[in-house]
Amino acid sequence: MADMRDEPLVLGIETSCDETGVGIVRGTTLLADAVASSVDEHARFGGVVPEVASRAHLEAMVPTIERALKEAGVSAKDLDGIAVTAGPGLAGALLVGVSAAKAYAYALGKPLYGVNHLAAHICVDQLEHGPLPEPTMALLVSGGHSSLLLSADITSDVRPMGATIDDAAGEAFDKVARVLNLGFPGGPVIDRYAREGDPEAIAFPRGLTGPRDAAYDFSFSGLKTAVARWIEAKRAAGEEVPVRDVAASFQEAVVDVLTRKAVRACKDQGVDHLMIGGGVAANSRLRALAQERCEKAGIRLRVPRPKLCTDNGAMVAALGAEMVRRDRAASAWDLSADSSLPVTASHVPAEQPPHRHGHAHSHDHVHEMSKENLYS
Ligand code: KG4
Ligand code: ZN
Repeated sequence: MADMRDEPLVLGIETSCDETGVGIVRGTTLLADAVASSVDEHARFGGVVPEVASRAHLEAMVPTIERALKEAGVSAKDLDGIAVTAGPGLAGALLVGVSAAKAYAYALGKPLYGVNHLAAHICVDQLEHGPLPEPTMALLVSGGHSSLLLSADITSDVRPMGATIDDAAGEAFDKVARVLNLGFPGGPVIDRYAREGDPEAIAFPRGLTGPRDAAYDFSFSGLKTAVARWIEAKRAAGEEVPVRDVAASFQEAVVDVLTRKAVRACKDQGVDHLMIGGGVAANSRLRALAQERCEKAGIRLRVPRPKLCTDNGAMVAALGAEMVRRDRAASAWDLSADSSLPVTASHVPAEQPPHRHGHAHSHDHVHEMSKENLYS
């Protein structure tokens, strides 16, 4: 008979930015994905306001957890663990999720898993396409990150191959949208406008693609400035700005570089699976061009459906379930939010006391740790 750990039932909480996400999964099966977003409250500021986000998480947390449990048709007492984004992200926003996860886990007597937001963006694809091949190359593109990561085991072995040296891809979308007065967040609206524009209308620069440039690093700050200058010049000349063409040409410059470098990394490293995750992976042109270039290179492409690409709780639950399934150590009750948690830390395990090392089951271990932390 299958071990319970094969299909663990895990609830995941995500509060690293402006989405309060609560997901419930059983193994690699998605049971519920409840999201409450405070994005409208930030729109007039043109970016996420941390204090506003934290307050919104606080208000949305309990109702969103209850909605997820109802949607999944499971009882909290049947959970095998509770996972939460421990970082990276906005410190105050993360803290709301971490505190809620601790309260539920402690009250229910369940192990707690503080997990990495970036690894969760990769792991979520298991809910759509089944277990991740090992190794998998992951192109992670979001509002705060743009990285190429080589994952041999999503719970314990994620190696950075390259990253942006300035702006994240999503950040570039948001900034260009602001210059075009298209509102916030910029990604979805640029995606929409670009569909009616000419991607070759304007030759915007492709950052870090010279022969001596770092093969797997990205740079979007020069592109962003080039777009802003181009628009300024048009406006100064009293000419109308062709918004659709600017959107399409800018978007093409971003996705051209992202896909080119991702495919190259796969080829160089002999990895035949590429996964694309993070909010920018929802971009329709990125998905299409990646498909085209992967097919040509004989690489299998995996991209989750758009709703699973942007921040959500299901991705955290998916990674939490993988932690339980692989019997990774649970987190301690004094788990803290780490706004700059490194991408190599897929989760934050409790420190193993030397004499117990290799003996305790993660499940027992968490309770052992709890007493020490609470009463010492
Ligand atoms: O992963 P995510 O939801 O939050 C972070 O962890 O940052 O990513 C948000 C980013 C935003 O910058 C947003 O503009 C971008 O993802 N985004 C898109 C699209 N949908 C969201 N960018 C391009 N095209 C899209 N369709
Ligand atoms: Zn994200």
